[in-house]
Amino acid sequence: MVRKGKIELGNFPLLLAPMEDVSDPPFRAVCKANGADLMYTEFISSEGLIRDAIKSRKKLDIFDYERPIGIQIFGGDEDSMGLAAQIVDATNPDLLDINFGCPVKKVVCKGAGAGILKDLPQMVKITERVVKSTQLPVTVKTRLGWDDNSKNIEEVAERLFDVGIKALTIHGRTRAQLYKGDADWTLIEKVKNNPRIQIPIFGNGDIDSPQKAVEYKNRYGVDGVMIGRAAIGYPWIFNEIKHFMQTGTILPEPTIQQRVEVCTTHLLKSVEWKDEIVGIFEMRRHYSQYFKGLPNFKDYRTKLVTANYLQQILDTLKEIETVYANQEVLV
Ligand SMILES: Cc1cc2nc3c(=O)[nH]c(=O)nc-3n(C[C@H](O)[C@H](O)[C@H](O)COP(=O)(O)O)c2cc1C
Repeated sequence: MVRKGKIELGNFPLLLAPMEDVSDPPFRAVCKANGADLMYTEFISSEGLIRDAIKSRKKLDIFDYERPIGIQIFGGDEDSMGLAAQIVDATNPDLLDINFGCPVKKVVCKGAGAGILKDLPQMVKITERVVKSTQLPVTVKTRLGWDDNSKNIEEVAERLFDVGIKALTIHGRTRAQLYKGDADWTLIEKVKNNPRIQIPIFGNGDIDSPQKAVEYKNRYGVDGVMIGRAAIGYPWIFNEIKHFMQTGTILPEPTIQQRVEVCTTHLLKSVEWKDEIVGIFEMRRHYSQYFKGLPNFKDYRTKLVTANYLQQILDTLKEIETVYANQEVLV
């Protein structure tokens, strides 16, 4: 099978993490506009794709301005994953990513996501099948291991490299940790320093500032970092990191005008991509983050998350801009 070409990502790419119910096209659009170098879709169930479930199919929507973009799939059965890979192929993303990291019970108990970390031979089998079923470069995102007593990422990395993956992103937690405790990047560093593994190793977990991104780049030697939660409501993080890497100085925080402008773009794209009802509903989870830190914001937040019509929300956003711009002048 002819494999598609190499993706040029620059020196130290910043990746937007796949996040269920978050990393959809509207959110990706604002992250791309603010410096994300490589983005992924939310994870998509291989079984859902095969059944042609509407929800799964909608998640395959990608747009040219998003490139390079990866589509992420998950599943515990190699036949389904092979078929899903063929479906993904037809939508022509730049790469296909396998999720071996999701800790959620309903995924794990089917031997998918991080559940597969307990069954390395099956993990290798699935990966090999996916690699053989698609002409896209295949990448993997996973965790350090199942729990503290079984951190097998070093072996996992070698075995997956041997069956042909083109990059590996490691979230520095075990499945048992879920999102608790600090991410531990020392094993990510070990994988990166394994001379046998000749593919990019991306680090993931807890990057939330330009200083931390640069500190972790220097300390652990990874080829790039993936950012998830810190980008929610704060897509500026990508350009802030780039600016810090280039100049050693910190960009000023976005002004209230910029926050309102980007939040409005996000909302309009959400309504355009879904429809007014669903777009408005799904946008509700983002407002707190866009306006984090603003004093006495509670009433505005309530207005934003209870409004049912686009125009009401746009009016409230305008009001927020005016009121808080005046407050900034007062301070
Ligand atoms: C709301 C949410 C949804 C997520 N969904 C996915 C997913 O679909 N696929 C995946 O590989 N990881 C998923 N993750 C994990 C993130 O990609 C990332 O590994 C994790 O948040 C750690 O990175 P961070 O500290 O930068 O947030 C999700 C995380 C969050 C918070």
